[in-house]
Amino acid sequence: MKIIQKLALAAGVSALLSSAAYADGLSGKTIGFSQIGSESGWRAAETSVTKSEAEKLGINLKFADAQQKQENQIKAIRGFIAQGVDAILVAPVVSTGWEEVLTEAKEANIPVVLLDRGVDAPEDLYLTSVASDQVKEGRVAGEWLVKSVDGADCKVVELQGTVGSSPAINRKQGFEEALEGHANLSLIRSQTGDFTRSKGKEVMEGFLKAEDGGKNICAVYAHNDDMAVGAIQAIKDAGLKPGTDIKVLSIDAVPDIFAAMVTGEANATVELTPNMAGPAFEALDAYLSAGTIPEKFIITDSKLYTPSDDPQGEYDRRKGLGY
Ligand code: AHR
Repeated sequence: MKIIQKLALAAGVSALLSSAAYADGLSGKTIGFSQIGSESGWRAAETSVTKSEAEKLGINLKFADAQQKQENQIKAIRGFIAQGVDAILVAPVVSTGWEEVLTEAKEANIPVVLLDRGVDAPEDLYLTSVASDQVKEGRVAGEWLVKSVDGADCKVVELQGTVGSSPAINRKQGFEEALEGHANLSLIRSQTGDFTRSKGKEVMEGFLKAEDGGKNICAVYAHNDDMAVGAIQAIKDAGLKPGTDIKVLSIDAVPDIFAAMVTGEANATVELTPNMAGPAFEALDAYLSAGTIPEKFIITDSKLYTPSDDPQGEYDRRKGLGY
């Protein structure tokens, strides 16, 4: 597969709520948005940024919350098709099982844009996909850990995202790639925490119990910040110091992980912009108004943040943005 990389946002959060100068053409258009749910702070921010970008552009956004269920997403997409919307945005909860409904949208001549997660389906069934390079996110986190332990032995536990979702699959792969060839680092336990804070805490409690109260664990790698925040609580409840006794690394860069960095309880996060809608609306505007076909994959940036990157400032910059 040929991936044409494009940095959708040059300056991360500063661009988050910038007005788009493009899309006069989307004013008055009706766009359906099938969102996964509200499992994480990042997801809440993506929803809120999408709604506010749509409002700025005069788009009539029809929002459907799938409550983490693919069947609800398929139902919502079929509803959008029946209403004859101008375009559909979908954040696919899992990567398989989309071919039929995407074919229905294609046959109805309704362009579909994938947001933040990928699908295992032929590429001609969607106009474009706006997402991060999720393998890279895992690799960036893993490379940070390799550097940070500097050759010392380190047993790692992993909190995976939703089973079957593209970020869970790809962030695991990227992390494991980074650890390859470093015999001092071993992944000793890995389980899904479903991208939620409560499940992250619960699974981490199990890991701590199984690993001598946590004495055997050197680091926890969580596929998102919410699970990391849950894990931090579990580590504290077990009488250990998160960030010191057990390193905490994750993905998203939500305000709460920066708050944890300020108190020394988190060590690294990889930013995922919640502004997937900006590039999506830009691509749709060009397509609907001039027939311009966008790049198939619009890849957002994956910047690493650690406590040396002004976590208080990052927290302040993000806290009003819908997380
Ligand atoms: O698909 C993006 C992931 O989904 C985010 O990293 C996570 O927080 C969310 O729930």
